[in-house]
Amino acid sequence: MKTILSFLEQTVSYAIASAFSIPILEVHADITPCAQENFGHYQCNNALSLAKALQQNPRSIAQKIIDAIDPASFSQIQIAGPGFINFTLSPHFLSEELTQQLFDPLLGAELPVKTERVIVEFSSPNVAKELHVGHIRSTIIGDCLARVFEFLGQDVIRLNHIGDWGTQFGMLIAFMKEGVSKPGEPSIEELMAWYRSAKKRFDEDADFKKRGQREVVSLQGGDLTSLAFWEMICAISRRAFQEIYDLLDVKITERGESFYNPMLSSIEKEFAEKGLEVISNGAKCIYLEGFKNREGEPLPLMIQKSDGGYNYDTTDLAAIHHRIFTEKADRIIYVTDLGQSLHFQMVFAAAKKIGWLDPNKTQADHVGFGLVLGSDGKKFKTRSGDTEKLIDLLTEAESQAYGIAEERLPEASEEEKRHFAHVVGIGAIKYADLSTHRTKDYTFSYEKMLRFEGNTAVFLLYAYVRILGIKKKTGAPIEAVLRDKKIAVRHPSEIALGLHLRRFGETLHFVTKDLLPNRLTDYLYELAEKFNAFFRDCRVEGSLEQGERLLLCELCARILSQGLHLLGLHTVPRM
Ligand code: ARG
Repeated sequence: MKTILSFLEQTVSYAIASAFSIPILEVHADITPCAQENFGHYQCNNALSLAKALQQNPRSIAQKIIDAIDPASFSQIQIAGPGFINFTLSPHFLSEELTQQLFDPLLGAELPVKTERVIVEFSSPNVAKELHVGHIRSTIIGDCLARVFEFLGQDVIRLNHIGDWGTQFGMLIAFMKEGVSKPGEPSIEELMAWYRSAKKRFDEDADFKKRGQREVVSLQGGDLTSLAFWEMICAISRRAFQEIYDLLDVKITERGESFYNPMLSSIEKEFAEKGLEVISNGAKCIYLEGFKNREGEPLPLMIQKSDGGYNYDTTDLAAIHHRIFTEKADRIIYVTDLGQSLHFQMVFAAAKKIGWLDPNKTQADHVGFGLVLGSDGKKFKTRSGDTEKLIDLLTEAESQAYGIAEERLPEASEEEKRHFAHVVGIGAIKYADLSTHRTKDYTFSYEKMLRFEGNTAVFLLYAYVRILGIKKKTGAPIEAVLRDKKIAVRHPSEIALGLHLRRFGETLHFVTKDLLPNRLTDYLYELAEKFNAFFRDCRVEGSLEQGERLLLCELCARILSQGLHLLGLHTVPRM
C-alpha cells in the first residue's frame, strides 16, 4: 500500500497538473505533515512557488488547486496564511485505509519495484578464538536487517564470514602436534585454552614460532594431516557457534574466509596487471586516495605480505569480487563493530578503483555498531571471554525471566514457564541491543532490559498480551467480526492510533535505507503507547463500537507481532 504522504502527493500533483495544464511529471507536490500530524493534518506549500512562476495571486492559485481535488478523502481543506493549503484527512478515509491494511498480507508495506539480491554478512566469529559480545551484537543486528529485507520480498543471502583461515591455525596445529590432544575430540574450552597457550608459545619461543609458520605453509599447501587437524578445529567451533544461533533463533550460511582462499592469487594478479600495486618493504600494497594513518602518512591496503602470504584485506577483496560478480548482489551489507569502519571504507574504495564496484549498480554498506559496556562503564567482558561464557550470558537472561514467570504465573506449568523464560529472556537481550541507535555504546543490564516500563521487550510483549486479553474478554469470534465489520475510527485516540498503524510500511522502508533497527523499535514502542492511550479512552467490550474497535485491536496485534518477529522476537500468550 502507498503511504499516506505519497497518496497526498499524488492527489495534489494531479490537481496541479489538471488545474494549470502542466505535464504531471513536471509537478512535484510539496507536502509536509503538520505538528499535530497525529490527527491527520498536512500542509501543501505549492501555491506559493507556483504563484511566482505564473505571476498570480497565491491564494487564488491555492483555490484552483483545491477545486481540482476530490474532497472525499478529507474532512477539511482550507487555505491558510499567504497561500498554504491545509488538509485534514477524513476519519472515513483513514478507516478505509486501515481496513485494507488489515487484510493485506504485508500489513501495508509496499513491495519494492524490483526484487534485489541483498547480501547481509553478519556474526562472523573466529574459529578457536574468543567469541565476544561484539559477535552477538552483529548476529542480532544482522539477523534483524535480513528479516526486514526478507519480509519486503528481497532475495536475501545471509552469510557468516567466519575467521577460519590464517596464521593462527599454524600455531594451533603445531601445538596440538606436540601431543596435547588425548584420544577423541577436544571440547571447545580445551581448544580455546590451547589457543591461548599456543599464542603464548608463539610469541615467546622462536623455535615454536618457526614450526607454526611451517604448519601454515603445509596447511595452505593442502597437506592432508594439517587439513584433518584444521577440519576438526573448525567442526568443534562450528558446534559451539551453532548452539548460540539456535538459542537466538538465527539462520545463517557459513561462508568463511577459507572459501575465498583459491581466489586470492588471481585477485592479487588483477591488481598488479591494472598497475594498482605498489611494493613496499617487500609487501604488495594498494594505495588509495584519502586514506592516511595517524602520522598523516598514506595508509595502504596490503594484499600480499613479503613472505608471500595473503591476509584479511586480500580475503575481503576476493569476497567483494565474488559477491558482485558471482552472487550478482545489488546490495552488500557488512555488520561489524565500528572499529572496522576504516577497513571496509578501504575495501570499498579499492573495489571501486579497480572497477568492480559501481555505486550505480551495487550498493555496499558497512553497518557499524558501538560497544557493549558493563555496569562499570568499561567494555563488557565475560569472566574469561570465551564462547561458553557467552552462552551463559544468554541463559542467565532466561533464568532471570524464569523468575518473572514464577512471580506472575505461579500456577503455570513448568513447560509454559520455560517457554516464557526463553521468549522473554532472549527477547529482552535482543531488544535492548536493537533499540539503541547502533552507533552508540550501551550498558548491559538484566535489570533494565527486563523492566515492565519504558522502551523494553517486556513492555511490548505485555502490550501484545493485553490486546489478546481484550479480544478474549469480548468473547466475539474474530473471524466473524472480520467478515461482518470494518474499522471505523472516530475518537482522537483511535485516529492517532490508526495513523500510526498506517505508518508501519514506511518505517520498514526507512530501516532498509539507513539500516537502523532502532527505527522499528521506536515505532513499536510508540505503537504500544498509542494503543494504551486508545484503550484508556475508548471502551471496547460491550460498547456500541465493539466490532469496529476489535478490528482496530486486531490490526494492532498483527503489526505488533509482525514487528516483533522482524526484530527476531517471539510473543507469549500471557504474562
Ligand atoms: N571475523 C572478523 C572479526 O571477528 C569479522 C569479519 C567481518 N567481515 C569481513 N568481511 N571482514 O573481527
